[in-house]
Amino acid sequence: MSDQKRIGILLSGRGSNFVAIADNVSSGMIPNACVAVVISDKTDAKGIQTAQARGLPNFVIERRGRTRQDHDLEIVAKLWEHKVDLVCLAGYMRLLSPWFVQQFPNAILNIHPALLPSFPGNHAHRDTLAHGVKISGCTVHLVNEKEDDGPIVVQKAVPVLDDDDEDKLSARILKQEHIAYTEAINIILNRQFQITGRRLVKG
Ligand code: GRF
Repeated sequence: MSDQKRIGILLSGRGSNFVAIADNVSSGMIPNACVAVVISDKTDAKGIQTAQARGLPNFVIERRGRTRQDHDLEIVAKLWEHKVDLVCLAGYMRLLSPWFVQQFPNAILNIHPALLPSFPGNHAHRDTLAHGVKISGCTVHLVNEKEDDGPIVVQKAVPVLDDDDEDKLSARILKQEHIAYTEAINIILNRQFQITGRRLVKG
């Protein structure tokens, strides 16, 4: 179909969010869309092997040997080449440059395993447990120039249990991540939202 939306995935590791997105595209839960390209900045990312096995266009673009500017430029060029409408960061462990963000206005999503603005950064589960909060969850947000900062699209809450460790908590949150990402993608692809200040509302 000519107005099919094209999703580009950026990842650095395991790729379970990518798999959930790809499965939901296939099943029609994300209707009228396709995974147009999967890009990893790590050669050994399991997610890129999965993309290969599924026959999806996939590329490794390592940072090593490139300036940050050249790295971003190559990735954006690849996304353009594949005519991507929406970029989904799915465990992509690099901060995008302001230039990168500007190429896809309100069309880059990230998922974070905590209820932002609490516990941003790379150690969300550890920080959540250390702080002793009783509720955590995940956040899908639009990406801006700052880390884990753009307008929030979807959040899902889970309890933090007394006998939790990082593995138990992250497994509970991950199940919700896979649901939340699809909801957020549908909101953004259908352009069913308005943004006032930091606040994104559906409709
Ligand atoms: C997820 O917990 C996500 O919230 C965070 O990185 C992890 C990626 O997991 N940004 P996966 O590679 O999608 O399995």
